Amino acid sequence: MTKKWIDVAASEDCSDGAGIEVIADSEIIAVFRLNGDLFAIDGVCAHQGGPVAQGRVEHGCVTCPWHGWQYEIPTGIQTINRKPLQKTFPVREREDRIEVQVEID
Ligand code: FES
Repeated sequence: MTKKWIDVAASEDCSDGAGIEVIADSEIIAVFRLNGDLFAIDGVCAHQGGPVAQGRVEHGCVTCPWHGWQYEIPTGIQTINRKPLQKTFPVREREDRIEVQVEID
């Protein structure tokens, strides 16, 4: 496995308190900006595959739009069972672009 930074979006595409869905290699990833900081978690809900990036963002959590499972954005922890069901990814900003780090075979 090799780790690689992938350019996924322009910085301006991800506004504060919201998420965007991006694709990095073969991963669908939800990128959020909270108080200026970026976070990236698996964009496919662990419940039944809902689009996590389209969920409502409140108090550092996102609510999946399909059935309401909630995840802490910085950790991917599901708020009811406290398990880290959504994988997290390193994310950074360089020269007004957002990059996510994924593992490539
Ligand atoms: S698919 Fe996300 S809560 Fe059901």
